[in-house]
Order: sequence, then structure tokens, then C-alpha cells
Amino acid sequence: MRYLTDASNLTAAQLGGFFVGWPSPPSPATHLRLLQSSFRAVVALPDDDDERVVGFVTAISDGVLSAYIPLLEVLPAYRHSGVGTELVRRLLGALDALYMVDVTCDPDVVPFYERLGFVAGTAMMRRQYQRQSGAPLAGA
Ligand SMILES: CC(C)(COP(=O)(O)OP(=O)(O)OC[C@H]1O[C@@H](n2cnc3c(N)ncnc32)[C@H](O)[C@@H]1OP(=O)(O)O)[C@@H](O)C(=O)NCCC(=O)NCCS
Repeated sequence: MRYLTDASNLTAAQLGGFFVGWPSPPSPATHLRLLQSSFRAVVALPDDDDERVVGFVTAISDGVLSAYIPLLEVLPAYRHSGVGTELVRRLLGALDALYMVDVTCDPDVVPFYERLGFVAGTAMMRRQYQRQSGAPLAGA
């Protein structure tokens, strides 16, 4: 597995199959846009001659004290072999100068993050499901 911390040379053609189970998933072009707009991103590619992205994680941040991990996903066929752990480990390395790194996750993913040094807290969330695809607003 190869891991890249620079998403600037990726293309939308390398992205597909993500956002499993999302009713209104972002398109590959929108996925590329969010990877390239994040404070930090790490992507996983299978090997030297396979340019498909099979896992990614992003962080948004003020660059001073705090960061938030909004998205982490590994394609189903590549799960359970340490890719997700390595993505987060590398992301945390890139965020090492910061005080706080937060993530909101489903209860079944809590042990995954605990193994990476996170502790459980209480989160509040607001979601606008009509904006789930991230498609640009008309006139924007
Ligand atoms: C969470 C996710 C990124 C983990 O990726 P991965 O490459 O399989 O991670 P690793 O191989 O490093 O670790 C897997 C371990 O994490 C734990 N784990 C991860 N997701 C889990 C889940 N949904 N339920 C139970 N355990 C889970 C298990 O202990 C698992 O061990 P196993 O492989 O023996 O079953 C992947 O399952 C995924 O993309 N899930 C859907 C999206 C998601 O939930 N993202 C997190 C949002 S914050």
C-alpha cells in the first residue's frame, strides 16, 4: 500500500466507490474538491501501478490549536488489513503540533479510535441532509 499526504495531483478518475450507504453521496469531482480543500488529507493507493484510491482520511483545522476529522473511509474490499489505522496514524503525525484532534463516529468505531489514543466524549451534531452531496449551490 502507498500513502500520499499531498492530494494536489489526484484526479477525480482515481476516486470511486466511496461514501458507501450514503443516500446522496458526493460525486468523485466533489470528493476530489474536499480532499484538496482539507487542511490535511492522507490517501491510500494499492501499489505502484494501481492509481485507484482505496482509502482516505481528512482533517480540517484552524492550524493553531484544533483539528477535526470529518471523513475516514476504506473501500470495503480493502478493510480489515490495517489501512484505516495507517491512514489515521499518518494523519495524526501531520497534526502533531496541535492541541486537540476530535472526531465524531458511530459507537462500533469507538474501539478503532481508542486503539489510536482517542478517548470517548460527548458530541453534538447538526446535519442538513439536503446538502449531503456537497454539490455547489446554484449561483455559488
Ligand atoms: C472504519 C474503517 C475506516 C476502518 O478501516 P480498516 O482499514 O478496516 O481499519 P483497520 O484494518 O486498521 O482496523 C479494523 C479494525 O477496526 C475495528 N473496526 C473498524 N470499523 C468497525 C466497525 N464498523 N465495527 C466494528 N469494528 C470496527 C475492528 O476492530 C477492526 O478489526 P477487524 O479488522 O479485525 O474486524 C472502515 O471500516 C470504514 O471505512 N468504515 C466505513 C466508514 C466509517 O465508519 N468511517 C469512520 C467515520 S469517523
